[in-house]
Amino acid sequence: MADEPLVLGIETSCDETGVGIVRGHTLLADEVASSVDEHARFGGVVPEVASRAHLEAMVPTIRRALKNAGVAASDLDGVAVTAGPGLAGALLVGVSAAKAYAYALGKPLYGVNHLASHICVDQLEHGALPEPTMALLVSGGHSSLLLAPDITADVRPLGSTIDDAAGEAFDKIARVLNLGFPGGPVIDRMAREGDPEAIRFPRGLTGPRDAVYDFSFSGLKTAVARWIEAKRHAGEEVPVADVSASFQEAVVDVLTRKAVRACKDNGVDHLMIGGGVAANSRLRALAAQRCEDAGVRLRVPRPKLCTDNGAMVAALGAEMVARNRPASAWDLSADSSLPVTEPHVPDPAHPHGHGGAHGHDHDHVHELSKDNLYS
Ligand code: KG4
Ligand code: ZN
Repeated sequence: MADEPLVLGIETSCDETGVGIVRGHTLLADEVASSVDEHARFGGVVPEVASRAHLEAMVPTIRRALKNAGVAASDLDGVAVTAGPGLAGALLVGVSAAKAYAYALGKPLYGVNHLASHICVDQLEHGALPEPTMALLVSGGHSSLLLAPDITADVRPLGSTIDDAAGEAFDKIARVLNLGFPGGPVIDRMAREGDPEAIRFPRGLTGPRDAVYDFSFSGLKTAVARWIEAKRHAGEEVPVADVSASFQEAVVDVLTRKAVRACKDNGVDHLMIGGGVAANSRLRALAAQRCEDAGVRLRVPRPKLCTDNGAMVAALGAEMVARNRPASAWDLSADSSLPVTEPHVPDPAHPHGHGGAHGHDHDHVHELSKDNLYS
């Protein structure tokens, strides 16, 4: 619908320069420039390399997104950007670019939360999110179970990892197996040829006295690494496919078990899974099976929307505009540890917004600039 908010979103929290454009729940452009190849030889993301790559990719990626969406920058109703959490230097590039575009265009700026964006992106695939939403977010940087009564204003953490993130565990095990970086996709592939029950690896935090919604993957990681080492030490060949399948099974077994339990305990009848690890084929299959058994509806966006991208930021920005949430101040800063309980960073001078319909709210922008640009 033409009266739905048209928003550009910028994501630079890690190694992907993502620029997306959405109109309400409709995806118009999703451009991603990744620096992943530049980090591969280090076996992980190097922050300085990522920041430099964002800087180089930013303007061309924004231009490409506008061109592919077939919209003019002047038609936008707002510019949204990931304000955190993420790598400080990388976030700063996106926040600076978003401010520059928003200010030059006279549009409101929305600094939004990366995790809430991972949830909100599903609106582009499956339409409006039911409220409350239960979300399992699993990526290289985070593993959390979140209950979101309102994705723009109320996101509650139920549990999270107490050590490694799920994706981090995939990346580390892939490294031990010499499979390269990032490890998730290649382990997923290798596992298809293996037996998930070949080796019984430990399931972290699943004992009767353990926190029901928290995760732990470091014990599993150590167990898998020791198992591989013992094989090598004995001069035996490491069964890569079986190790991949058994390790993957241990991760997704715990993730799906806890997520379905969270739904049941909280009376939520559907589950959304997001983040890079949501691309995992076994996670998708087991979640589908367990959700069906529990009478829970599963919503998982397509893999390209699960990994970091700008469309997810635009999707949350559009929701902010649609619900008249206050814009951010011009002195918005990147916050590498922005809490998940803050879906966006409102202007502290106008935390409840200015009211009125979304759209070409130039007065709003002007007011913000007076309050904050020169203070
Ligand atoms: O969300 P994302 O793109 O970036 C953040 O970490 O925020 O997630 C990247 C992570 C990496 O750890 C990668 O190994 C993992 O997602 N990943 C996967 C798969 N595809 C990506 N893990 C398991 N199976 C996959 N198919
Ligand atoms: Zn992410």
